[in-house]
Amino acid sequence: MTKTDFPNLTIIKHPLIQTKLTMLRDVNTDNYLFRSLLNEIASLMVYEIFRDFDTDEIEVTTPLEKTVGYRLAKEITLVPILRAGLGMIGGIQNLIPRSRVGHIGLYRDKNSLEAVEYYTKLPPNIADTKVILIDPMLATGGSTSKALTFIKSKGVTDIRFVCLVAVPEGIKRITADHPEVPIFTAALDRKLNDHAYILPGLGDAGDRIYGTE
Ligand code: PRP
Ligand code: URA
Repeated sequence: MTKTDFPNLTIIKHPLIQTKLTMLRDVNTDNYLFRSLLNEIASLMVYEIFRDFDTDEIEVTTPLEKTVGYRLAKEITLVPILRAGLGMIGGIQNLIPRSRVGHIGLYRDKNSLEAVEYYTKLPPNIADTKVILIDPMLATGGSTSKALTFIKSKGVTDIRFVCLVAVPEGIKRITADHPEVPIFTAALDRKLNDHAYILPGLGDAGDRIYGTE
């Protein structure tokens, strides 16, 4: 785990994550392998993201006697930003199977690069839960910032953002708009190109997940 100059950013540099990310970046990786790797990385990231979550003590009865056990203090809501965020959901749900899932549909307008909302559905009790917002790509930060604003408008105060690849431009945007939200990423890349794609990046995540390029 690496802390950076950005106070809200954690880079999860586990060797398994880094080697799988290298395969994801490879232009020759097909959609099937891309989806598998993305979910595997998401699972591996969960370990660090949840490391400091509060737990409540509970009593558990083993076949031999009663003892002290633990459960997460707060219910978890996973919120993928459609489409690409869906590519990480399975890997996280494997480890947190009783989490609820809300959806926020956004796409980046090709000309303005503004995030455009087309679908939202969040669980009714979301304000009482810990929210994990998920999108593999943090580029300009427009999509993530808009999603965070929407989630906060529902009364949520406890949010973490998880991505796979981020650039300084996006981190600065989230730090300015939502300074209290911790960001977890597997990689901090160099910069955006003239079309706001991440360099070196991995291309268009949604297209690579769903084969729509
Ligand atoms: C991609 C990606 C993020 C967004 C990041 O989505 O999945 O949501 O771009 O860019 P930003 O930080 O500049 O907002 P896209 O708009 O391509 O939609 P998709 O997931 O449906 O492919
Ligand atoms: N969205 C993507 O999918 N990839 C990028 O590099 C930037 C935005």
